[in-house]
Order: sequence, then structure tokens, then C-alpha cells
Amino acid sequence: MNEKLEEIKTILKKYGQEHLLNHYETLDEVHKQKLLNQIETINFELINHLYQNTKKEIKYNDDKITPMEYLDKNKLYDDYKRYENIGKKLIQEGKLAAVTMAGGQGTRLGHNGPKGTYDIGLDSHKSLFELLCDSLKEEGKKYGITIPWFIMTSQENNKATIEFFEKNKYFGYQKDKNLFFFIQGELPMIDTEGKILIGEDGLIKQAADGHGGIYESLVKSGMTKKMRELGVEWVFIAGIDNCLAKMVDPVLMGIAVDKSVTVACKSVVKANPKEKVGVFCKRNGKPSVIEYSEITEEMAEACDENGELLYGESHILCNLFNIEAVERMGKNPLPYHIAYKKASYLDKEGKLVVPDSPNAYKFEAFLFDAFGEVDEMAVLRVKREEEFAPVKNADSAGVDCPKTARELYKKFHNLV
Ligand code: UTP
Repeated sequence: MNEKLEEIKTILKKYGQEHLLNHYETLDEVHKQKLLNQIETINFELINHLYQNTKKEIKYNDDKITPMEYLDKNKLYDDYKRYENIGKKLIQEGKLAAVTMAGGQGTRLGHNGPKGTYDIGLDSHKSLFELLCDSLKEEGKKYGITIPWFIMTSQENNKATIEFFEKNKYFGYQKDKNLFFFIQGELPMIDTEGKILIGEDGLIKQAADGHGGIYESLVKSGMTKKMRELGVEWVFIAGIDNCLAKMVDPVLMGIAVDKSVTVACKSVVKANPKEKVGVFCKRNGKPSVIEYSEITEEMAEACDENGELLYGESHILCNLFNIEAVERMGKNPLPYHIAYKKASYLDKEGKLVVPDSPNAYKFEAFLFDAFGEVDEMAVLRVKREEEFAPVKNADSAGVDCPKTARELYKKFHNLV
């Protein structure tokens, strides 16, 4: 033990993080061990590198951005049935799994608990988890199968998520048979001096590594292996916060097969050229998503010969992957984006500091940064009112909030 502690002290000294042991002696044996284990797994070189990045401005100016082709689900005409039949056969054969990313912190919504447990205020008072589960069950019924469901949680919300499911008898699903939970990766949070924060429990303050962590965690947690055992070939990945997410879509699957692509994504057309959303594009010839902050006003307003926006297909985090693509993406690290957040921590004296403004950096990978791994992907434009009802903010924001999601949900399901 002492030897291990000495080794760790040397590492910490090398990286200027000696403060991580400031409160070591005040911890009980279990926490002492936990802290040492945590420190041993930290990639300090990466943390240093990420800290240096917080001082740099990311420049994309050299990238060649061009529009991405897309299909409109409502203008497929004769092809619609053809695609649908291809997809239906695959679903019937049990080749599709659904993955729900529920590891986010949901800070904007401000709900006390995992976002998936949130009740958007329907008469049924169903949680976001139950609404998505309902849709999976309904689709499964059409095909006489149960669509395997994989749920990504974070270290922070895993326990509460599983307890919630247990309490609700897994909404009729069967844990470890057709319902699987896995925990995403996390990274330490650092202050503006590059020092790793210590949380209230005396352990390293870590935060989930973004929805881009999905690929690596699906592979590392053995979920892709499990999928293969179940005969799954296609994986639909969406967030927990879109209560209209259509996870079982034979048309999208048929398009992927027909076009021989391993990734097929859904889009909704931008509400207006200035809407602050990421849109599909090609970056240096490869599929990508460009943030609203990265495109000029001229690009945002440019239209094709039919009057459609050239950069108008919003990425709505509803994407279909061939399992091989997931495995490939899980092998290559993604870049981390920096978020400046409020994070409570223990100061030098062991006093808890609860800041009222951002004080720390959190590092997140974005799912769409992996799109460049493939040469081609399909984009399918769907109707916003049919497939996109996000719950991002509290009602006071007035947009993408429980109230707007509830109205969209009710309208789509004829509950009004
Ligand atoms: P958002 O980026 O909107 O984040 O996630 P969020 O955590 O829900 O909310 P804020 O930004 O803290 O307010 C989009 C989807 O990706 C999942 C979220 O759970 C949500 O379904 N996600 C995000 C993860 O699963 N893990 C992450 O690390 C981040």
C-alpha cells in the first residue's frame, strides 16, 4: 500500500496535481483505496493536453465545407415501399437494437434525478423512459418480437436509473434478456489553473465524457458483443430527451441497405436559417455536422435550385449504425470539446465550495465527430412534428421544454 502511495505521489508531482492527496488522511479505508484507484486510471498527459486546449481557440477555417445530400421521407414516392420492405424484413429477423443515451446531466432542465425519470406532464404522468419504452413495445408488437433495448447511463446516474426501472418493473422488459444498462466513460473536471477538482466525497470530481462516449462504451462494456450474440446487425442510437424519437424505422434501414452505407441519420429541416442547430454537411469530403457558430450568414441562407436551404438539415441525434461501424468508431478516440461549468469542490482546507458561476472545465466528445470515419452516409429528412420533441430546457425558456414537448407528443398521439 505504502509503495503504491509513494508511486502515486511521484506521478502527481510530475503533473503538478499533488493536491489530490490533500485530504487523503481524512478518508476511510474504502475511500482511500477508491481515490488511489481513480488516480491510477487518470491519463494525466491527456488532461494536460486538454487543459492547454482550453487556452486555444478552435479554428475550423481550413476545412472545406460542402452541402450533404439528403432524401426527404415524404418524397420517396415508389421507393418508399421498397425501402420499407427491406427494413421490415430485417426488423422481423431481430436484426435491430435500440440504444438510448441517458448519461447526460440534464443541467438545463434542472430536474433532480436522471432526465429519463422526468414526467413531462401528460395525463398519464409517464416518464421519458416509459414514453420511449411504450414506443418500442408498440413497434415490437407489430413485428411479433421484442426489440432489444440498451440504455447508457453515467457513473452519476446509473444507480438512480436502475432503481427507477426496478421500481417500475422494467416497464415489462426483462433485464439482461432484452434490456441492458451500461455506464459511459468519464473524465476529471479541472479548474482554470488546470488542477483536477476533488468532489465532496473526497474523490476525484469526474463528469461523463459526452454522448460521443457512446461508441467506446458500447464496445468496452461488452454491449456490442452482446448485440452480436443476439443477432443484431443494426443499432439505432438516440437521446433520452426526444419523446417522439422513432427508434424503429424500416424506411431508414431500407435506405441504409439500398445505398450500401453503414450510417443513416435522420434530420429535420431548420425552422429558419438562423436557428441555432448543427446541420449535416461534408467536411473535407467526409460526412460531418457543422455547428451554427461555424457557418457564415451567407452559408446559412444559401438555397439550392428548389429553394431548399443548402445547409438546412438539422442533426437531431437520431442515427442508425451498422454494428461494424459502431465497433470501428469505438476504437478511435474522438476530440474533446470544452464546456465551462459550475462544479462544487473541496478547497485546500477541505471546505466545500459551491460556486454560483462557472468555475471548471468539463470535456465532452460529440457523437457526430465520428461521422468522418465513414466515406458516405445517408440522411433522411423527416417531419419535425412526427419525430422531434426535445426536452432540453425548463419551461421558463419557452423552447425545447416540457411544455412544447408535451404539446407535440399529445398532437402526434391524438391526445388533444
Ligand atoms: P445534451 O447534450 O442535450 O445534454 O444531451 P444533457 O445532459 O441532456 O443536458 P444539459 O446539456 O446538461 O442541459 C443529448 C443527449 O445525449 C445524452 C443525454 O442524456 C441526452 O439524451 N448524453 C449527453 C449522454 O448520454 N451522455 C453525455 O455525457 C452527454
